[in-house]
Amino acid sequence: MSETVQRPIDPSLDIEAEIVRLKKDRNAVLLAHYYQDSEIQDLADFLGDSLQLAQAAKKTTADVILFAGVHFMAETAKILNPDRIVLVPDMEAGCSLASGCPTDRYRAWRAKYPDAVAVTYINCTAEVKAESDYICTSSNAEKIIRAIPEDKEILFAPDRNLGRWLMQKTGRQMRLWMGSCIVHETFSLRKLIELKERHPEAKLIAHPECEEPVLKMAEFIGSTTALLNYTIKDDAKEYIVATETGILHQMQKASPDKTFIAGPPEGNCACNDCPFMKLNSLEKIYLALRDLEPRIEMPEALRERARVPIDRMLALS
Ligand code: 13P
Ligand code: SF4
Repeated sequence: MSETVQRPIDPSLDIEAEIVRLKKDRNAVLLAHYYQDSEIQDLADFLGDSLQLAQAAKKTTADVILFAGVHFMAETAKILNPDRIVLVPDMEAGCSLASGCPTDRYRAWRAKYPDAVAVTYINCTAEVKAESDYICTSSNAEKIIRAIPEDKEILFAPDRNLGRWLMQKTGRQMRLWMGSCIVHETFSLRKLIELKERHPEAKLIAHPECEEPVLKMAEFIGSTTALLNYTIKDDAKEYIVATETGILHQMQKASPDKTFIAGPPEGNCACNDCPFMKLNSLEKIYLALRDLEPRIEMPEALRERARVPIDRMLALS
């Protein structure tokens, strides 16, 4: 049964006004990722990519952090804020990269290469973070890889597309975990080529979680914030955007005179919408603030171990 059925909401309420009121009452901050629905983005106190959201979570002095994103992001906020209440609108908002890298299999993989340095993408569970030497996001991964001494072997998990792109950028060989994002894998090269033929002036921009043929075709590759900033500074008038559709809201807001086309999935589906990110809704945000749940909790020993590689990342960012 869904959260909103189990926890009824008075239908006469103005949900947006209630969220604003409850945020103040609870001294809560609403952090949101760019892949959230536009009405959630518009209510957020802070919007950003994974790195900026982790940095915002580290800085906040609010009593309550409500994280409109996916579970691993809220978990990172809790790792950085053991004494604050960290809420998620929907506990089921997972990530295919995190679920494709279970702790036991990751631990066994690491154990095979005891001298290697383990750099792990932030899209993983707290348990996998605790087994890693460094965490990275798509906006600081290159810097972190370059900071590892040349003579050290690197294990990179869980996104193989980001890993391969980093190998090409840095010239470093790495052992890659074979994980991927179900959203970024969905873009159709065939349809992208057709779109480019119909819109020859449009620039293709892509997130590094996309597959290699899409990245080869892209004119710019970067994290969600880097993609947004590129469309603001660049002088093209039209862009094909190969990442989750949520980012188009901020692109269009920042550049109302430009045209943004969502990268097309292969099937006739909305597979370029992240099904986990899109589990969140204004109703669930309201309920989380009203009831102060669901909360992210974890054993203190795990939290302490998972914090070490996150702090290393933040120090390098
Ligand atoms: P960034 O916002 O850090 O680019 O991450 C993209 C992503 O897939 C988050 O799940
Ligand atoms: Fe995970 Fe992909 Fe969704 Fe990001 S877009 S949360 S990487 S499944």
